[in-house]
Amino acid sequence: MTGFAYRNGRLHADAVDLATIAEQVGTPAYVYSATAMQDSYRGFADAFAGVDALVCYALKANGNLAVIRTFAALGAGADVVSGGELARALAAGVDPQRIVFAGVGKTTAELAAGLDAGILQFNVESEPELRALDALAQARGQRAPVALRINPDVDANTHDKIATGRKHNKFGIALTQIPTVSALVRTLPGIALTGLAVHIGSQITELEPFRAAVTRLVELARAFRADGHDIRELDLGGGLGVDYQGEHPVPVGRYAEMAKALTRDLGCRLVLEPGRYLVANAGVLLTRVVYVKDSDGRTFLITDAAMNDLIRPALYDAYHAIDPVAEPAPGAPRAPVDIVGPVCETGDMFASDRPMPPVESGALLAIRSAGAYGAVMASTYNARPTPPEVLVRDRDFAVVKPRAALADLYADERLPNWLDAAPPRPAAKRGRA
Ligand code: LLP
Repeated sequence: MTGFAYRNGRLHADAVDLATIAEQVGTPAYVYSATAMQDSYRGFADAFAGVDALVCYALKANGNLAVIRTFAALGAGADVVSGGELARALAAGVDPQRIVFAGVGKTTAELAAGLDAGILQFNVESEPELRALDALAQARGQRAPVALRINPDVDANTHDKIATGRKHNKFGIALTQIPTVSALVRTLPGIALTGLAVHIGSQITELEPFRAAVTRLVELARAFRADGHDIRELDLGGGLGVDYQGEHPVPVGRYAEMAKALTRDLGCRLVLEPGRYLVANAGVLLTRVVYVKDSDGRTFLITDAAMNDLIRPALYDAYHAIDPVAEPAPGAPRAPVDIVGPVCETGDMFASDRPMPPVESGALLAIRSAGAYGAVMASTYNARPTPPEVLVRDRDFAVVKPRAALADLYADERLPNWLDAAPPRPAAKRGRA
């Protein structure tokens, strides 16, 4: 049994009762199913069988070393967007020749780290970045492998904050600048142009935006080749959506068929950068109800998890299914409740007016589909330690990131010398005169 399902009246991760994890690790805690991750990876990779394709897991979705290693062990590379993510991928053992480095604002230090590591390619997003990389590579006597990330001006029809492929977005090289950049590349001896890249957004549920972007990329690859460039790789980015709330996203098989059909004649290797698809539904945020508060006709389930642990509902109004770990009786009545955290903001809310079966304080809840963009976006706001992470595989589980101690929250902070002296304390009370 893989992933999250009720068994014998309790929600399990694979064969492990979530209540057991709550007892041993405490709450809130992220719990991931390694087998669910393996299943989604195989489903994705199998869809591209028969063509030369490299799956580079977008580790921004979940950067835990154990998660990266789980995918690397299956043959995945990594898509990284910062020096920190590059360091993580290398620490997890990803082959540098399977690492692509994306991002609009790579600093000189980050570009140098990529050159040091000998990564597969830099996905370059602007003319100034191209010049900076060229200068750096030349100074080091190297040639940097580059895929140009194109902004195809395609609307991905997703949440505004995660749409990246329209021309007013900050990402990629505008179509109007392509001729200039194509000519420029030829004058830069530190650059080896090997491919083109595109990424139009995240949580995309329809096929058409992908088709429009790939079609454009293929046209451009032909144009670059006609211009004398040796385009060997087409990086199609990530963005494949998942089911949070019955969205019915386009199945990976149809996505892959479209990509294979459109790129067949080019003889390029495909690079894919899935993040969410591989991990979202392979994780939950396990939390305990601290209080059930009835207030003027509303019922609040106040949980020990908060917006600092999982910010997606507060930031994007994202929907996450929420289920009690103890399976509700069949036909149990459902009543609308607000599920909120303890942080001092009204936006600290996981669900509003959510129909829930009766839940008492002390009950465990699983906030579903939290494997992607959950732990990685956690903060310590309100001086709350980020939650531990647990990886389950069949009957086993391991804490892959422990809960930080409260003192760890400020262990690296320093007082300047003018604050050396301890603050004054009020004088001891004297007896009444
Ligand atoms: N490649 C590039 C260049 C990206 O910018 C992204 C995501 C991906 C791949 C992976 O996309 P995915 O397959 O996961 O959709 N925090 C937001 C999502 C931000 C996505 C940013 N870029 C959320 O919680 O929905």
